[in-house]
Amino acid sequence: MIHLGWFLGAGFGIQPWSEKGGDGLWTGSNVTDWMKPDIYVDLATSMERAGFDYILIEDTAMVEDSYQGTAETSLRRGFMAPKNDPMPLVPLMTQRTKHIGIIPTASVIQYPPYLAARLFATLDHLTEGRVGMNVVTSVTDRVAQNYGYAEHFEHDERYLMAQEWVDVVQQLQGSWKPGAVLADVWNAVYADHTKVQPIDFVGKYFSSRGPLNTIPGPQGRPPIASAGGSEAGRDLAARYDDTMMSLSKSVEEMKEYRLDMRRRVAVYGRDPDAVKFLFLVTPVIAETDAEAQEKKKAMAAARLSDASIEYNLWNMSYTSGGRIDFGAIDPDTLIRDIDFSRQNGENSSVAAIFQNSADLSLREVVATSYQITDLGLVGSPDTVAARMGEIMDEVGGDGFLFYLPTTRRNMAEVADGLAPALRRRGLIRDGYSGTTLRENLLEH
Ligand SMILES: Cc1cc2nc3c(=O)[nH]c(=O)nc-3n(C[C@H](O)[C@H](O)[C@H](O)COP(=O)(O)O)c2cc1C
Repeated sequence: MIHLGWFLGAGFGIQPWSEKGGDGLWTGSNVTDWMKPDIYVDLATSMERAGFDYILIEDTAMVEDSYQGTAETSLRRGFMAPKNDPMPLVPLMTQRTKHIGIIPTASVIQYPPYLAARLFATLDHLTEGRVGMNVVTSVTDRVAQNYGYAEHFEHDERYLMAQEWVDVVQQLQGSWKPGAVLADVWNAVYADHTKVQPIDFVGKYFSSRGPLNTIPGPQGRPPIASAGGSEAGRDLAARYDDTMMSLSKSVEEMKEYRLDMRRRVAVYGRDPDAVKFLFLVTPVIAETDAEAQEKKKAMAAARLSDASIEYNLWNMSYTSGGRIDFGAIDPDTLIRDIDFSRQNGENSSVAAIFQNSADLSLREVVATSYQITDLGLVGSPDTVAARMGEIMDEVGGDGFLFYLPTTRRNMAEVADGLAPALRRRGLIRDGYSGTTLRENLLEH
């Protein structure tokens, strides 16, 4: 079975809205209503109808000013700000659904481990076992500074922090042993105190005494997700992930990525089949193959607009950890002449943008390079469904993470066009066999 996820890439933030940015059509009232629950509830019900495993909610917490040394572009265009805290959205999205999992993002520098352990145990109860945790290390200095650090830690050290963080969170979530809760009304005994113990964790970055002051939710330790593609990121995922999201630009790369990760998971004594690797894709769907090809051409042309170029340069600056201002580099500079040594952000995402482009100019890369590709998934629902099946056969599993602008049109194309075509081919689930997110992920 192909597992499916939807990446709510703008988080609980302003959803695609701007005509000039090329996303204006079909964006409804996103610009005024992004902070209301409706579109997220629609997304959850639509993707559950489609049979998705989960929705991943991005999060960042800063007003970025690394592009041209000012927050002007971020605020004028609404790039990554404003953004609400994603956690309260989770129960709203599960209240109107019964099966789909919701995975909000928790950064190790934004949530102290005790707060995270308690919050996710609470969400596990409120969602009846449908929450997961996207563990990230945050990307730029501005986020770190909002949480009391002078600047962000170096890339690989962040992952050491993340390892310690997940370890403490999971120890806290395990601090009530099985059988601790008796809820014995007749004898007036709520819990067996011998089964609830402190963890007394003292680490390099975090300390926590424990035990947690709430009881384990239906999943005990909610599933962990992450996306770090660097060595350090892959190591974190191999230790803890139940699902990993991957940036791979070709079927060959996908295959290598999955094999590499499955080997790493096994090294930690874990079962590779228990980790689901979802590959980011941006499919282009239309009524007919010809219309989809036209749509793809129009999208490529839109990348040449000033608004799109500004966005891509802004995004490169953000992705470098805010350490390289691509707005200050002459666009005719060759990539080989750009000093990448200062980058301290999403290393593997930067690598994906500048892959095989040493001899190109920055201008050319901005116009033509994609962090995520459509992998040839361009066509009518039936064509795209067939190709998805072929790709999964070649890669060996496990599924796709859709990264499309969150508009109701895109939701309909996927939930009511593509998903039925996939289902007709027997490639995705027809109804859910389990009730928790972990059970969704383990379904064959
Ligand atoms: C699908 C996906 C979702 C991500 N979500 C977030 C997020 O919500 N917040 C964040 O700070 N970083 C997020 N990231 C960035 C990753 O945590 C990580 O920094 C990035 O994949 C680069 O990995 P690397 O640093 O190991 O090279 C996301 C990346 C991907 C591919």
